[in-house]
Amino acid sequence: PAEAGARRADRGAFSGRTSFIFAAIGSAVGLGNIWRFPAVAYENGGGAFILPYLVALLTAGIPLLFLDYAIGHRWRGSAPAAWRRFRRWTEFIGWWQVLIALVIALYYALILAWATNYMIFSLDQRWGDDPNAFFGQYTQALSGTDVHISFDVVPAVLVSMVVVWIATIVVMALGVQKGISASSVVFIPLLVIMFVILVIRALFLPGAIDGLEALFRPHWAALLSPGVWVAAYGQIFFSLSVAFGIMLTYSSYLKKRTDLTGSGLVVGFANSGFEILCGIGVFSALGFMAQAQGVQVSEVVSSGIGLAFIAFPAIISEAPAGALIGVLFFGSLVLAGFTSLISIVEVVIAAIQDKFGLSRISSTLWVCVPLAVVSTALFSTTMGMPLLDVLDKWVNEYGIVAAALVSTIVVTYVVRGLPTLRDHLDHRGTFPIGRWWLVCVGLIAPVVLGVSLVSSTISLVT
Ligand code: PHE
Repeated sequence: PAEAGARRADRGAFSGRTSFIFAAIGSAVGLGNIWRFPAVAYENGGGAFILPYLVALLTAGIPLLFLDYAIGHRWRGSAPAAWRRFRRWTEFIGWWQVLIALVIALYYALILAWATNYMIFSLDQRWGDDPNAFFGQYTQALSGTDVHISFDVVPAVLVSMVVVWIATIVVMALGVQKGISASSVVFIPLLVIMFVILVIRALFLPGAIDGLEALFRPHWAALLSPGVWVAAYGQIFFSLSVAFGIMLTYSSYLKKRTDLTGSGLVVGFANSGFEILCGIGVFSALGFMAQAQGVQVSEVVSSGIGLAFIAFPAIISEAPAGALIGVLFFGSLVLAGFTSLISIVEVVIAAIQDKFGLSRISSTLWVCVPLAVVSTALFSTTMGMPLLDVLDKWVNEYGIVAAALVSTIVVTYVVRGLPTLRDHLDHRGTFPIGRWWLVCVGLIAPVVLGVSLVSSTISLVT
């Protein structure tokens, strides 16, 4: 490892705490905030969901974020390297995280390409009056099985896929500070500005109030249901990007003396703040759509791909100044998604760089070029859409939950490493880490993660 040591110098670094915080917020704020949180909150108690959500943030989200930071910062490496330095045999956890990162990158890039196209489609509402059929045709377009494509989407989707990957390669090749951090420093404030304008516009649409009422009306009885709590923890884990190896990798680029815990709090609350703003924006728009169609809000609630590529196009066509709403909405998806995509790709690039002692540029190319080719090729077949569903479900319900569960158990019970990590954090923050952290990481998180793993397995079988 003399060689690896020599190479470590060009791993890159954040210039300071602010750069790190922006990059971390960039990763956390993603598609999950915009298209996942609103429906999850609505379906799990509405206004009452805020309670389990905050409990999950404080008892698992932020504590696990600190765990990621502590491992990455103390053992200074990409996920596999840091885990390996922690204990030789725990390296596999890091490679598991790399595998998950690869899978996510494949389909995140595709969704970004769609959002880029749809941003342009919003200008003339190219989906016509049947956004559903249009989307079906559009996603089949690449496969070439549909001979009746009546619009120029084939080049459109390919072009945006190429644009997304070139942008990713450029940013990643520029490195940690000039690439990752600089793009988050520019894109995150821009995203906030765009989204705030979108929310204000949406709030003035007729019916917006009904949407908000549907989202925020509290169903207190929901708090008695364990499923609601599992959903809250699930949303927090995904939204904060904990246990993906991202925060671990990012914190390895921080200076030796730095405020880890204070930064973690900023990231956690900024992400949740933006998430609630997304709830307001999305439900105002859904309230408008319900009123326009003369139905209840409950009938138009959707999330994920359906919300973004079917419901929103309908809203955009219907609303006054729809093109503006479209550009702001899809533009926000692009910015939020891009800063998350680069964070997930970084997990892989850093791992390859550490493992083979490559330069930044060559590891970027070794990782991104095959990823770009595979993601374009995979989704160019009719398998694309079903595959996307399967991958997404696998990653979120099993892959990442298992990674988080195994890491908390290994660290707490097998290696008994929590006290060392706590000590590390205690010297790098504005406040001491209390015993509560040990309880959260060693007990609450593994129990909740175990329960979610079991419940998704049960729902798979039944
Ligand atoms: N945190 C991101 C979100 O809320 C999701 C994400 C997780 C993105 C992991 C990349 C990697 O959308």
